[in-house]
Amino acid sequence: MADKKVRLKIRRQDGPTRPDTRRWEEFAVDWQPQMNVISALMEIRKHPVTVDGKSVAPVVWESVCLEEVCGSCTMIINGKVRQSCTALVDVIAPGGETIVLEPMTKFPLVRDLLVDRQRMFDDLKKVKAWIQLDGTHELGPGPRQSQENQEEAYPLSRCMTCGCCLEACPQINDSSNFVGPAALNQVRLFNLHPSGKMHAAERLETVMGEDGVAGCGKAQNCVEVCPKEIPLVDSIASVGRATTKHMLFGWLLR
Ligand code: SF4
Ligand code: SF4
Ligand code: FES
Repeated sequence: MADKKVRLKIRRQDGPTRPDTRRWEEFAVDWQPQMNVISALMEIRKHPVTVDGKSVAPVVWESVCLEEVCGSCTMIINGKVRQSCTALVDVIAPGGETIVLEPMTKFPLVRDLLVDRQRMFDDLKKVKAWIQLDGTHELGPGPRQSQENQEEAYPLSRCMTCGCCLEACPQINDSSNFVGPAALNQVRLFNLHPSGKMHAAERLETVMGEDGVAGCGKAQNCVEVCPKEIPLVDSIASVGRATTKHMLFGWLLR
């Protein structure tokens, strides 16, 4: 098996302001059992020489957890957005086919396969995706969550801010400021929480405009690509109903 190779075709660009350097480069590395795309990229880093024998700069990408928890290694693999740490070479290229790697397109490119997902973290701040405490003193145990509430919240809490849903969403584009499905899902999650509920109105108000829940075109691409199988369309519908209710009756609660 020593001569079995994994072939990769990688979209490269030297920096955010260097579109003139956009190019494809092809590499072949030795196959190893249980190899994933990240381990293939690590092999390239050890010996960054293309199939044409040209020495090049090592490919840049991001990864942290290597177990599909952090979301940082997300890229487009053979045309499909997903995590590269769980993309097993033997599964995606069983017959030794060339594996094509490209960076996500809905985020600013940093270099090669690395993009800047900061907009997602800014959106989490915008929708206050946290439980607010009123001090650092001992607050005692938090309120109990019913079993039913926990069952609804748990799947929503699995988001790892990977960006797959934004990449797939047609409403995320240069001419729209749509906040996207991941942040809307967080609004549902934190508004479900017994303490989070205290700031439910503020969260709903941040997503009431065109850039919020109304920006969704209901194409449902997001739910199909979410690696955590989060019911994003249900979350958007649930936040949509809550914003309508808040618009109509919110003043009663002030
Ligand atoms: S359902 Fe809405 S958020 Fe999901 S992909 Fe479609 S437009 Fe985007
Ligand atoms: S909702 Fe799913 S696809 Fe979107 S960022 Fe979270 S984990 Fe990724
Ligand atoms: S490295 Fe964390 S999800 Fe892949």
